[in-house]
Amino acid sequence: STITPLDKQSRIDCVPWLKLQNDTQALIRECANYDYCTYNSVDNNKEVPSCYYEPKKLSFEIVSNETTELGFVYNIQRRNSQSLYKNLRVSFEFLDDYALRFKIVSPSVSEYEVPIHINKPNIKAKDPKYDVQIDQTNFNFKIIRKSTGTVLWDTSLGPIIFEELHKQISTKLPSENVYGFGENRHESFRHDLNYQNWPIWGRDEAPENHEKGNLYANQPFYTCMEDDGKSHGVALVNSNALDYEFIPAPGLVYRATGGILDFYVFLGPEPENVIQQFTEYFGRTFFPPYWALGFQISRYGYLNLDDMKQVLDRFDANGIPLDTQVADIDHFDRRLDFTIDQQNWTGLPEYFDYLHSRGMKTVLLLDPALVVNETNYWPYETGRQKDIFIKWPPGQSPDFAETGSDIMLGYCWPPAKVAYPDFMKKTTQDWWVESIMRHHTKLKFDGLWIDMNEPAVFGTNDERPFNWPEESRPYWSLKCPDDKYEKVKTKSSYLYGETTKLSQKTLCMVGLQGETNQYKHYDVHNLYGYYESIPTFEAAKKINNKDRGFVITRSTFLGGGQYGGHWTGDNHSLWRHLYYSIIGMLEFNLFGISYVGADICGFWLNTTDEMCARWSSLGAFYPFSRNHNNEFNIHQDPGALSNDVVRSARNALKIRYEILPFYYTLFYKSHTKGNTVIRPLFHEYPHDRTSFPIDKQFLVGPAFLVTPVIDEGKTSVTGYFPADNWYDYYDGKLVSSNQNNGTWLELNAPIDYIPLHIRGGYIIPTQDWALTTEKSRQNPFGLIIAPNADGEAQGDLFYDDGYTDVKKNKFYYATISLRESRIKFNVEENNYDEMANLVLNKIRLFVKASSSQNIKFILNNEVLDSSKIEFKGDEILFKNLNIKMTESFELEWT
Ligand code: GLC
Repeated sequence: STITPLDKQSRIDCVPWLKLQNDTQALIRECANYDYCTYNSVDNNKEVPSCYYEPKKLSFEIVSNETTELGFVYNIQRRNSQSLYKNLRVSFEFLDDYALRFKIVSPSVSEYEVPIHINKPNIKAKDPKYDVQIDQTNFNFKIIRKSTGTVLWDTSLGPIIFEELHKQISTKLPSENVYGFGENRHESFRHDLNYQNWPIWGRDEAPENHEKGNLYANQPFYTCMEDDGKSHGVALVNSNALDYEFIPAPGLVYRATGGILDFYVFLGPEPENVIQQFTEYFGRTFFPPYWALGFQISRYGYLNLDDMKQVLDRFDANGIPLDTQVADIDHFDRRLDFTIDQQNWTGLPEYFDYLHSRGMKTVLLLDPALVVNETNYWPYETGRQKDIFIKWPPGQSPDFAETGSDIMLGYCWPPAKVAYPDFMKKTTQDWWVESIMRHHTKLKFDGLWIDMNEPAVFGTNDERPFNWPEESRPYWSLKCPDDKYEKVKTKSSYLYGETTKLSQKTLCMVGLQGETNQYKHYDVHNLYGYYESIPTFEAAKKINNKDRGFVITRSTFLGGGQYGGHWTGDNHSLWRHLYYSIIGMLEFNLFGISYVGADICGFWLNTTDEMCARWSSLGAFYPFSRNHNNEFNIHQDPGALSNDVVRSARNALKIRYEILPFYYTLFYKSHTKGNTVIRPLFHEYPHDRTSFPIDKQFLVGPAFLVTPVIDEGKTSVTGYFPADNWYDYYDGKLVSSNQNNGTWLELNAPIDYIPLHIRGGYIIPTQDWALTTEKSRQNPFGLIIAPNADGEAQGDLFYDDGYTDVKKNKFYYATISLRESRIKFNVEENNYDEMANLVLNKIRLFVKASSSQNIKFILNNEVLDSSKIEFKGDEILFKNLNIKMTESFELEWT
């Protein structure tokens, strides 16, 4: 033939659904079915597709174009095509100077569009920092960063495909530094571009079970570091099952099984700007109540209330900070939501009251699924009356007899069939809030943990005995119709196992949802957790009559952070998973879900002392810090394990509690400005290419570097310190001061110790630690001051009552600076009354000095008493300062 084989690096798989098979003959036969695919087995490298698209063969010509209020539109037509979707409409909206939207739809067929709210402007950008260039011969387009000429998107890499169940688009990537997308078990934060294909399709699947599988959350958003240190991000607003595949070109291919192609591009140019822009459109994180930054203890498999109580005794005996006790499904009567087991858990409400009296909080788990055949079970009864459950299409229910309705049934944790609320309906949302309020009159919980909301179904409408042995459960939905929605052709890796149905582990695709039952579950599946978190968050505020509430959810979608945080699901007590947890935490911060954490010490399997010691100190720096465990495993709260674990947890949690004002200030910024809380080094050092792949260390905000030991048997760890001053948190020692290059340092790390460093140029606000945040919030504040090479530093502090909406302006805000041997503490906002009762007592100033140097310290024009100054070699400690927090001050020295 005359076709020159495409550069191997740029091939896009034409038959990805055969990827998992090894049958070459089948591949050749299948490839021959499509005249736009070429078969050419260049070598035996399994990764390189041998049946691939010839982009030109699916080319479009331009029919017309027109300008619109926000940009312009191209009407295009595929050459030589009979398809219903022969004509497409491609629109570009210049939303603001840093944000662009492009959207591909059919002008004749109206396809499902994601109904979430996006805050987009409706006037055209005045001075866009991007250009859109159209290829007039074979329709394709490029998005270009004007200032540098960098091509951020270039669709000529592959064909644009738009069929009913297959929407595809590809782009050349401007660099190999791509991050984000999820939720998947990524084994590095920076993506591997060597033909790596990943699915997005919310699923109840432990990350260990399938290395390339689709996990709980749905986040079609990535960021890219361009080679010159500028950054951009791209969100695809599509909630259908989809794949994203990286190819070495470098390129990116999207394959969605429905909906439309609707993209938002954010131009940064700083990496933090990208997240600010993305969250401005999709929703900024909720502001967690202050107590939510305290430590939480949890497990699945407490035998009874006494078993739970003993955990607290172990915390007390060991003096380990703890804010919150979490209650999993154990305390339910037969795992039924909104019940309390009257045999083993009768005293739970009283115990919660007792925890409250100690200044602690409680979190309750809720699953969406409700049993249907239980007498006097109000949650289902009321739901049924209000007609809130997901249904079969009229007349298609295989189990009409069971409920006398079209409600779609499944199995989940309870020992009987369950129905799934459709949270897209307003009535459902109201009913869910009422149900939570009603339960709260019996049991005083402070926050909510929503689980199994992919939604997880252990077989839709299947007949099966309860306690069906795990090994023999099919986990798919025998009764789902064998239709085109269940067996989408473009699917490459949504599912594993023998079944090929999309409903595996979830509801049938034909399920009806939405206000007028206008949606198929097929289209809105990936939004289930997102919509459940909306009323749950509402209820979480209402139960305590506060502006702010606590929710964590397992499944999420773009912008889900505004309704709650996320934990990364059922990880394993394996060393690898310590490491994966850092990647997950960094990714969810990109997604605007900054309140995130993994199950500390691991969910599946029994942990070991060494692993749990290391994990406890790492987990102490997760924004959401919770030790959680699976049924039947040994207890893994620190006190149940060895002294190493106890010391490690205590040491690290003391530091967490001490720097909570710093975390809290970061959350304030995350909530109001969209910054990350936990961030990769390259977000602060975008011009240092060495930092691009680093994912074994992370920064808390711009300034606090955590370098955990993540390998078994190690007592030291090597960490990277970009060009700057870096100080050891523990003793103020300057460990690196190279201003030109980054340095790798080997750090000593005994089992009960985690290396922590502070970046020169920053000031960290602190507050003396205590066993709960309620107590620590009454303690004196402090400052840690780490000067940069010019002897300067800056920081700030946001503080309030911990649960009032920031918009009410009831907060306290101070800025702090160090310049020319003078510390200035400036109270900028003083609207939190309680601040008047608090003092600032100590300042750790990281400078080398000794008492013999005759330095004079002057606090607000008066010489500071020498008893308040301690020279410690690498730091000067000012103590017993007793300065009112509501008063600005200056401390200078000569
Ligand atoms: C799911 C959750 C897990 C929880 C369990 C029982 O597996 O992911 O955290 O403990 O269900 O509710």
